Amino acid sequence: MTRRLKVALVGYGRMGKEVEQILLERGHEVVLRFDPAPEIHGARALTPSMLDGVDGVIEFSLAQGIIDNAAVYAKTHTAAVVGTTGWETERAAVRQLIEQAGSAYMYGSNYSVGANLFFRLAAQAARLIEQVDDYDIMVHEFHHKLKVDSPSGTALTTAACILDNLTRKTVLQTEKLDRPIRPEELHVSSTRGGSIPGIHSVIIDSTADTIEITHNARSRRGFAHGSVLALEWLIGKKGFLDVNVFMDELLGKGK
Ligand SMILES: NC(=O)c1ccc[n+]([C@@H]2O[C@H](COP(=O)([O-])OP(=O)(O)OC[C@H]3O[C@@H](n4cnc5c(N)ncnc54)[C@H](O)[C@@H]3O)[C@@H](O)[C@H]2O)c1
Repeated sequence: MTRRLKVALVGYGRMGKEVEQILLERGHEVVLRFDPAPEIHGARALTPSMLDGVDGVIEFSLAQGIIDNAAVYAKTHTAAVVGTTGWETERAAVRQLIEQAGSAYMYGSNYSVGANLFFRLAAQAARLIEQVDDYDIMVHEFHHKLKVDSPSGTALTTAACILDNLTRKTVLQTEKLDRPIRPEELHVSSTRGGSIPGIHSVIIDSTADTIEITHNARSRRGFAHGSVLALEWLIGKKGFLDVNVFMDELLGKGK
């Protein structure tokens, strides 16, 4: 049984509200809802004093504030589980802040346990076609019309699972192609529209047949649930950690 945590929500949009529900269901307390939107918290920036007495943060915000928020977590040594996507270029700077401070920060492009099963299936699929050249592999994702980054962080993680396990694919290709794809390229394509919380497919195709592995998130609840489990796990640990470290413990290495 995990102890009752005092949690700050940083970013109180669709995901922040979903995380709040799960925190309350699991007996935790939400002590801060920080969001610069005028109708929510209104303050322009998160400050160290806002995190007084907080055990941990769950952040689902937008990429622009990621470094400033991380600097506050580092300064206050507050454990943070971060689900915000689209900040690949800031990753090294955030890592440095956290490692210098010796605090705990976890990033994951997808906190859903089901999606993490999907990542492991993608990696295994890539390993299985390593010796079978007739099978090609690609990734496609769909998201709702309000999503600001493309391809999704989940699609990029799926692609990394494939690239790490299939020697004939070495280049990530996320652009529209006006030419035949090169054999070493792994194509990751995106469609935006409607209210889709996230559909990701790995498609394996040969002259004889097609195999599809699809993760279809029915709601945001699965992401929120995984992020709360991750925070419960992270309290008391140190370092800049990928959600994989936690999921490997939860799911095993998939071997
Ligand atoms: N990792 C995952 O499992 C996962 C799952 C779903 C969504 N996401 C990502 O989470 C993020 C949020 O998604 P959402 O659907 O809740 O979006 P949203 O637009 O509904 O909410 C984002 C909120 O962040 C607020 N915000 C903006 N700048 C901020 C800052 N500097 N500090 C704190 N809050 C700030 C906005 O005002 C807004 O209310 C996106 O990057 C999305 O891609 C990740």
